[in-house]
Amino acid sequence: MSALFSPLALRSVVLPNRIAMSPMCQYMADDGIASPWHMVHLGSRAVGGTGLVIAEATAVEPTGRLTPGCLGLWSKAHAEALRPVTDFIKSQGSVPAIQLAHGGRKSARNRPWDGNDALPSEAAWPTHAPSPLSFGDYRQPHEMTEADLDRIEAAFVESTRLAHLAGFRVLTLHFAHGYLFHQFYSPLTNLRDDAWGGDPERRLAYPLRVVNAIRAAWPEVLPLGLRLSFEDWAPGGFGPDDATAAAAKFRDAGVDVIECSSAGLVPDEKVSVYPGYHVPFSRRVRAETGVATATVGVIFDPHQANSIIEDGSADLVMMARAQLDDPYWAHRAAEQLEDNSTWPLPYRRAVRRFRGFQEEFPMGRGEQ
Ligand SMILES: Cc1cc2nc3c(=O)[nH]c(=O)nc-3n(C[C@H](O)[C@H](O)[C@H](O)COP(=O)(O)O)c2cc1C
Repeated sequence: MSALFSPLALRSVVLPNRIAMSPMCQYMADDGIASPWHMVHLGSRAVGGTGLVIAEATAVEPTGRLTPGCLGLWSKAHAEALRPVTDFIKSQGSVPAIQLAHGGRKSARNRPWDGNDALPSEAAWPTHAPSPLSFGDYRQPHEMTEADLDRIEAAFVESTRLAHLAGFRVLTLHFAHGYLFHQFYSPLTNLRDDAWGGDPERRLAYPLRVVNAIRAAWPEVLPLGLRLSFEDWAPGGFGPDDATAAAAKFRDAGVDVIECSSAGLVPDEKVSVYPGYHVPFSRRVRAETGVATATVGVIFDPHQANSIIEDGSADLVMMARAQLDDPYWAHRAAEQLEDNSTWPLPYRRAVRRFRGFQEEFPMGRGEQ
């Protein structure tokens, strides 16, 4: 068996393989409520053999949404709309996960295909951030008060409970890409001089406080992941040394998987992108802290994905655009790396015939 198709145990959950669909905003929710789109988008990746299917950045409160189309999880109705999706993912042998998020200063925009610009004032909502610094020409955020800190922490805890009610087996936290928690731990966006800003320890204090509260609310037997930024790609920003130290603290707070990512904090970043460009961060943090890691970033080739696992650079490979391009990426990867077909039974005849394999299941009478 190839490394990519070996199972991975995280607390009581066993992922059937090391392939994860990276969370991707779909902007197809209505008032935060999942639509049939989410069933098809997430469900088809489970049919496609992806071991861990992660629902997009999901806002814990309405004002944490990036756009009016973002998924949310702030009421029982939101959880109930997701329950059939998680049930279906499980029925396919995959594991359902969700990414909880808060956009901070990057909230309240139009959907990308509607221009990604500021919402008109009658449709917009106030945004909050550690410091009142705008992201480029985005709306200026309010500096968070103690009451804001308490409210958002409580919202994360409530969404954690709702994620369990919705049937998710893995909870992941969006602490990267320039969203609220990244805004706290990076020196470029946190200029506070109270308990929540200043030196690296105080910049990390609020993110850690929220992780501790979430871990206490998420069942002990279920795993927790956290997406962390390893590089702001801008002078004076957060970098790999800071991230490796932060990862050890998150591990101690009960995070099971660090998802190594970067960028999105400031508009003038200069990112160096190549296939597997976050792998060196993952390899280092895994070696230095012993925490399990996921890597993401321009990974399309099954052989590259397999060698990332095989050589100990990561425990899990996440893919976003490769999975958009092909929901059946995992089955096609198995064709290259494994002797056995992993295609689901209802699809197997077609696939084998079109690929010129000997027919395992010939067409039955009346099927033509
Ligand atoms: C359409 C789209 C939506 C995305 N939404 C999210 C998101 O909700 N949460 C997140 O952490 N990253 C998000 N990302 C980033 C991806 O998860 C991933 O980290 C990035 O695209 C690099 O991986 P790739 O090269 O495999 O696409 C998104 C990317 C795309 C293309």
